[in-house]
Amino acid sequence: MDFASRDVVSIRDFSKEEILYILDHAGKAMPVARGERRSDVLEGKILATLFFEPSTRTRLSFETAMLRLGGSVIGFSDASGTSVAKGETLADTIRMAESYADAIVLRHPMEGAAKLAADFSSKPVMNAGDGAGQHPTQTLLDLYTIRTELGHIRDMNVALVGDLKYGRTVHSLAYALAKFGANLHFVSPPSLPMPPEVISHLEKRNTTFDIHRDIAEVVPDVDVLYVTRIQKERFPDVEEYNRVAGVFRIDASMLEKAKEGLIVMHPLPRVDEINPDVDATPHARYFQQAFNGIPVRMALLALVLGADLEAVL
Ligand code: NCD
Repeated sequence: MDFASRDVVSIRDFSKEEILYILDHAGKAMPVARGERRSDVLEGKILATLFFEPSTRTRLSFETAMLRLGGSVIGFSDASGTSVAKGETLADTIRMAESYADAIVLRHPMEGAAKLAADFSSKPVMNAGDGAGQHPTQTLLDLYTIRTELGHIRDMNVALVGDLKYGRTVHSLAYALAKFGANLHFVSPPSLPMPPEVISHLEKRNTTFDIHRDIAEVVPDVDVLYVTRIQKERFPDVEEYNRVAGVFRIDASMLEKAKEGLIVMHPLPRVDEINPDVDATPHARYFQQAFNGIPVRMALLALVLGADLEAVL
């Protein structure tokens, strides 16, 4: 399997076998991810992290992954301090970044930005979120979490809860879970459904899915409850946001009817969707999930930058 120089724009560009290959290597990279072993397999390589939108986990875990493998990082987390504030186009920013670095991680408010950047850049571009589009590296760590916590992905019942319209993590995750033959349950306010292009893709692949308005309807049946934040920054008007804000809140009492092995996931940040009393239940996995970003992004960076993976592990 050859990943060297590949862009990571959409999870749909990766086969199930390729995804499993990345996840296998992420598992083996765990001791280095935890800092128990050292590796310098990416020594001399530079990663540019260009974040035009806020981020905590995605940016820091990409940077940690690069540093744990002996590489270096340049970039920004706020475009107001860069020439973008002077009117520089994304294309020109990318042209610069590709001449300074060996790979680029991009987060941008415009859907399609990562694809555009990949078209301009001869160096690999990794999509760290393009508006309400996709978030493929989040999906890899989500799949890694499901697989390590539950043993496999196939036939699992997975509920995606919250803002399914603007939430990019659930778009990528739905595409990926369809490849693995999971059963999907969508729980959202009527105004925030899965976009039609995702639905039609699932129908073409004969993926089983159903649609709900109430979390209680799915809790007893699912293996994974994947909760998301209402994406306030994408709403055209704040009144519309206020109408749906706070409609889905999970607390520990709502999980009493859950299967013993149910795991609650969330890409984070959470606002008020998961009450802190869930943290102490055996169901909570969102902090482990966030940590899993490190080994998964280590495996991805090593593969895309053409490092000798056996030397990593
Ligand atoms: C998500 C994102 O930016 O799409 N965060 C993340 O990367 N973990 C989810 C969100 O912001 O709600």
